[in-house]
Amino acid sequence: MTQNHDRGTDPALAVAGEHGAQGRTTLVTTKAQLRARRAEMVGTVAAVFTMGALHEGHLTLIARARELADHVILSVFVNPLQFGPGEDFEAYPRVLEEDLALVDGHVDLVFAPSTAQMYPVLPPTVSVTAGRAGTILEGADRPGHFDGVVTVVTKLLQLTDPHLTVFGRKDAQQLAIIQSLVSDLDLPVRIEPVEIQREPTGLARSSRNAYLTDSGREQALALSRTLAAVEAAAPSRGAIQAALTDALTRAEIEWSYALALDPTTLEEIGPDHRGEVLVALAGRVEGTRLLDAAVVVATAP
Ligand code: PAF
Repeated sequence: MTQNHDRGTDPALAVAGEHGAQGRTTLVTTKAQLRARRAEMVGTVAAVFTMGALHEGHLTLIARARELADHVILSVFVNPLQFGPGEDFEAYPRVLEEDLALVDGHVDLVFAPSTAQMYPVLPPTVSVTAGRAGTILEGADRPGHFDGVVTVVTKLLQLTDPHLTVFGRKDAQQLAIIQSLVSDLDLPVRIEPVEIQREPTGLARSSRNAYLTDSGREQALALSRTLAAVEAAAPSRGAIQAALTDALTRAEIEWSYALALDPTTLEEIGPDHRGEVLVALAGRVEGTRLLDAAVVVATAP
């Protein structure tokens, strides 16, 4: 694929090459260019936010966004605010050329700003906090991570002004926190959760699965088996809890947690809870951290 560097008066780059019936994808790197292109869009707009290094999971989000809206804006931005001191922000893969080749013709616009473009002042003077929900589960070992996520998502929503945005259900905590961000701050956007993609074995698709040996992949099935047991146990709240407690006794996985949570607050639910339950699982197999999740409904003791 070649790139068209003939910018004319518009500094946005057209991602050139073989374009399908969907038309051309345009790359913009500044907020001003994004706003100008966004203003030209007629009809509904879906946004897909990523940190790049795109894989099949991202393509599923883009495909869903395309089903739901007339135009799709993809952001590619490695957000420094969501990396802790021990997490290597500098080493995060940045492969914009490859990302553009993957999405060319499948999204209308790619917004790939520099850090200075997104954060003229870093850290920003004013930021958004995820509250207690950001300090538990995945947030317990990553202080500030979810505050960084909600701050950048708020900015990206402001900049892309979409009718809807898609997030995968596998990062269940991120999805729940972003749903609270939108409802608590009355942001005018619809969040569209996208179902977890699974391999034929039931294993949730993840780029991290590549680190697993055949036997590791077999062990990792304990996650999807646990969800199957929980789904079979619903709608009994007691039976759901029993399935989770039973899972934790099994040693295929070095469990971090297997919890029945309130889908909004992410607090553990009590035995009297009735309604939706977010079942969140996390653990390590062969040193690789894996997540899985499902929403079930409890209507009985
Ligand atoms: O899920 C991600 O890739 C990131 O957390 C997001 C939502 C793009 C914010 O940087």
